[in-house]
Amino acid sequence: MDHIGLFPLFYFPDIGSAWLMGITGTIHILASHTSVGAAMLFAFLAHKAYREDRPELYEYMKKYGMFLLIFSYVIGSITGPGIWYTATAASPRGISALIHNFVWVWATEWVFFVYEVIGVFALVYFIGKIDRKTHLKLTYTFALASVGTLMLIIGIISFMMWPGTDAFYVTGSASDAFFGLNTFPHMFLRIGFMIMMSGVIGMVISSALPDRELRFELTRKMGLVSMLGGFLTLFFFMWYISTLPESAEVLLDLYLPDIIATRIGLMVAFSLYFAVAVFVPRLINQPLASVMVAVVLVVGLWPGEKLRESLRKPYVAGRYIYSNQIISRDVPGKGIKSEVEQLAQVGFLGASPWIPDRLRTITPENRLEVGHLLTKRACSNCHSLEKGGKFRPLMDKVAGWDAATIKTFMQTSLATGAIPYMPKIALPEAEFDAMAAWIATQNH
Ligand code: HEC
Repeated sequence: MDHIGLFPLFYFPDIGSAWLMGITGTIHILASHTSVGAAMLFAFLAHKAYREDRPELYEYMKKYGMFLLIFSYVIGSITGPGIWYTATAASPRGISALIHNFVWVWATEWVFFVYEVIGVFALVYFIGKIDRKTHLKLTYTFALASVGTLMLIIGIISFMMWPGTDAFYVTGSASDAFFGLNTFPHMFLRIGFMIMMSGVIGMVISSALPDRELRFELTRKMGLVSMLGGFLTLFFFMWYISTLPESAEVLLDLYLPDIIATRIGLMVAFSLYFAVAVFVPRLINQPLASVMVAVVLVVGLWPGEKLRESLRKPYVAGRYIYSNQIISRDVPGKGIKSEVEQLAQVGFLGASPWIPDRLRTITPENRLEVGHLLTKRACSNCHSLEKGGKFRPLMDKVAGWDAATIKTFMQTSLATGAIPYMPKIALPEAEFDAMAAWIATQNH
């Protein structure tokens, strides 16, 4: 019998593999966004220092640069490969799709990244050692390389949301995949956030400067930079959500009341913080500024990334690979065929190479075990299976349902593809029976 090209399932209890991915990703984003934001900020500061002949700004850049080296480049370089490991384990076919579409884009990004890493070392090391004009040029190229890495990566990440047009499915071309509807709003949204981060981190450095005058001046400036970045983030977020696929709109309606309630509170809190920096800079000290970085991470970045991940549902990439790794449609441009029909015929037990032989045939003795295995395969990429799990816990969604109700739900809603944010999961009746039986033993 023909198997489909599934990989072994990486199952992570309670928080789910998606959260594991999210945690690594969020830390990485904090580090990487700070570094691109700081590259733009450095270009601005170096320009000012050169034009207005202000050597003390070089001192600030040096301190900031040292901080970046540790914070962004060490943490960023550790979590970067970390994302590859977790993403490959959590969603091997998602990663495979990205590589098959974008391998040369990634290679190019790597070249920019190498320049960026060497650039930041050179930039910090050469302050005061080479003439200022050359240093200024170095700063500009560093900023260009940094923004270049962002632009290349964003095309790839935006493709995960959707290619934007149907052209990609027919041509399979990298540029049709790269320049989706969503790519530019996403890019500008991130640039806004990066500018904001460069200010938020900038305050950690400026608030500890020994010279009072300079401390207040720079804290005030960083407050303004953060405000500008925050405003741009908000502005482009509006544009961004207007370029999402239809299924995302259904989810957005589901999550929006919650988002609005929490986001408005956050916006007020951050605007207040930035306003204090601008108008009463002496109130900003290093402990406060450092705590605010952590606050951005936990209450700003994490929910934002979680939202983006959720809005992509039921797909993980390109709107042809479901989060549970099944290919949902033909992509003639890439020679890819939908697997939904085959699964409906032979089920996971027939189509997956990763089923132990003793579980291939359902018997009264192994039924619950098979049900557990199938539920992991079909649902656990998007739902924790443990009671009280953190990640869209399945048992809460079906709390109190008996096996018959669960089976009916699967047959009427999942097998027909009636719910836009869940994959179409059509399976032979015996597999639904086994899953429903196992879930019903867990959900009370
Ligand atoms: C691609 C991701 C994905 C997969 C795979 C998935 N779900 Fe869901 N499921 C969701 C999302 C998104 C929601 C919306 C609610 C939320 O976000 O909390 C949801 C909600 C539900 C609900 C609540 C009813 C509803 O319509 O909102 C049930 C019940 C459910 N899922 C069962 C299952 C079962 C059973 C499986 C496996 C056979 C499964 N899901 C697989 C993403 C998924």
